[in-house]
Amino acid sequence: MLLWSLWSAILLLTPLEAAEEDDVRAGCSTAVNDLVYIVDGSWSVGTSDFETAKQWLINITSQFDISSQYTQVAVIQYSDTPRLEISLGIHQGGPKLIEAIQGITYLGGNTQTGRAIKFAVDHVFSSSQRASQVKNRIAVVVTDGKSQDDVVDASVEARAEGVTVFAVGVGSEITTSELVSIANRPSSAYVLYAEDYTTIDRIRDNMEQKLCEESVCPTRIPVASRDEKGFELLLGMNIQKKAKKTSGSLISEAAYSLTASTDITENTRDIFPEGLPPSYVFVATLRLKGSSSKLTFDLWRVLSKDKEIQAAVTLSGNDKSVTFTTTSRTENWQRITFKNGFQNLYDGKWHQLKVLVRPSQVTSFLDDQPIQKIMLEPVEPMYINGKTQVAKRRGTDITVPVEIQKLRLYCDPHQSERETACEIYSVCPLNRTATDEEEDCNCVVGPKGQAGLPGRMGFRGEKGREGPPGPDGKSGKDGTHGDLGPSGFTGMKGEVGPAGLSGDPGLKGLKGDRGDPGLSGETGPPGTKGLPADKGELGPPGEAGPMGEPGLPGSGGLVGTTGPKVSADCSF
Ligand SMILES: *[C@@H]1O[C@H](CO)[C@@H](O)[C@H](O)[C@H]1NC(C)=O
Ligand SMILES: *[C@@H]1O[C@H](CO)[C@@H](O)[C@H](O)[C@H]1NC(C)=O
Repeated sequence: MLLWSLWSAILLLTPLEAAEEDDVRAGCSTAVNDLVYIVDGSWSVGTSDFETAKQWLINITSQFDISSQYTQVAVIQYSDTPRLEISLGIHQGGPKLIEAIQGITYLGGNTQTGRAIKFAVDHVFSSSQRASQVKNRIAVVVTDGKSQDDVVDASVEARAEGVTVFAVGVGSEITTSELVSIANRPSSAYVLYAEDYTTIDRIRDNMEQKLCEESVCPTRIPVASRDEKGFELLLGMNIQKKAKKTSGSLISEAAYSLTASTDITENTRDIFPEGLPPSYVFVATLRLKGSSSKLTFDLWRVLSKDKEIQAAVTLSGNDKSVTFTTTSRTENWQRITFKNGFQNLYDGKWHQLKVLVRPSQVTSFLDDQPIQKIMLEPVEPMYINGKTQVAKRRGTDITVPVEIQKLRLYCDPHQSERETACEIYSVCPLNRTATDEEEDCNCVVGPKGQAGLPGRMGFRGEKGREGPPGPDGKSGKDGTHGDLGPSGFTGMKGEVGPAGLSGDPGLKGLKGDRGDPGLSGETGPPGTKGLPADKGELGPPGEAGPMGEPGLPGSGGLVGTTGPKVSADCSF
């Protein structure tokens, strides 16, 4: 396994291819849908049933991956007027969307369903931001009462705009004819009905399956007077082109004979571009003769790029068993073997094998007889970037020679009840148009005998059965324009175009805002020594100092001058 991946990475894929072939799982969860719920919030519903309706919507939303890449959901509540509760694409991720649905408050009022549908078409689907990528535009109308306005015009307009409308009727007040005019045709596929809100959970699987079928089963197989959604592998896998045509189980049936040199291999992307729905029924009408009745081989298998089985029906002549393999959430795959009841499949005669896959169980049938029902663990969406093959030995690319008359996968599990094995004469003897000899051998038809003598005229017979249809009549006048077809798949991304011309120079920009101040710089080197300063001005006189010590005695003074003469009266 690991080695194989390494070799593929090193030898087979250039980096460009590797990028293109990124592992992609596909299933309902990865479908690209715009899904709009239109919920009745009129008085007749009541608060508690309205809560249940909300929870039911949350439940049926859980199978989708809510994102701008895959499914987007909008919710409209309506009574007299519609109210857009959640617009398309506003919530990315399931938890946010669930929270928003839980937060919707009950409106109350009358029931104007037609108006609500028109609102969805005119304002909600049309507001989608990804109109060109979206593959399916689906409206689910949940109502419990008779509408007080006309629903026909609005529903016709919705279909004309490419919106698929499901009508879910709850309770006994509802009229079937109204649900039928709301929903797409056939009503068996687009009208659902629950007795009341407490039992609405019972139609959950059914609703999920139908929403998913809408997303992953684009092709139709004409069966009886109906068109069944599914995959016609005789055509899709080019078996009709590559294998030799041979006689089938009845004279009216053709089959295809594979030999060791027939290689029935196609890209899964071309066969199951959106993966498989949670329920489907695999039907094969085949004859195992010679080595094919003794070997173990995959009658049908889907492989990942690394050759891991994504889905397979394996026949083993060794132990007369049938094995169904599918993906698993916890392991690489899960394998379910029906050990008993398939002995007849390996007896060299024509048989019809049916494998009915449901989300939690697989049931096998041989020639309309149920053989066994076995539980299934939750299944993971499968990788679609590998190959799908028919009649290959386990683990090899060697083709096992088988004769195949029918190889189909129907998306509607109920087709299991409708698809009978009447093409096998022993299953429905009354429908037999072949004799035992014709059935059991490839006898060579002998040469034509000689013509007999003419007989006598007989009696008038009874009125014959209706004859085969006559030759085509002259072509009629041009019919009126048909309904708008469903939108096609998104095309592949184109190649990068040539470089454009250089543009004119732009206008001068506005002055920018002032930036933040920078960090402070490092400390610089010391400056050069400065010049001596100028002499300062004379300062003020200082304060008087303390008294000095007494001085030494002075030297004798000079002789004084003669004093003045004194008068007579002086007695001196
Ligand atoms: C929703 O799903 C839960 C869990 O499966 C279940 O218990 C509940 O009854 C469902 N409710 C409705 C209204 O479908
Ligand atoms: C005969 O075949 C038709 C269609 O193939 C089927 O509807 C009918 O039930 C068959 N008759 C019997 C008796 O099984």
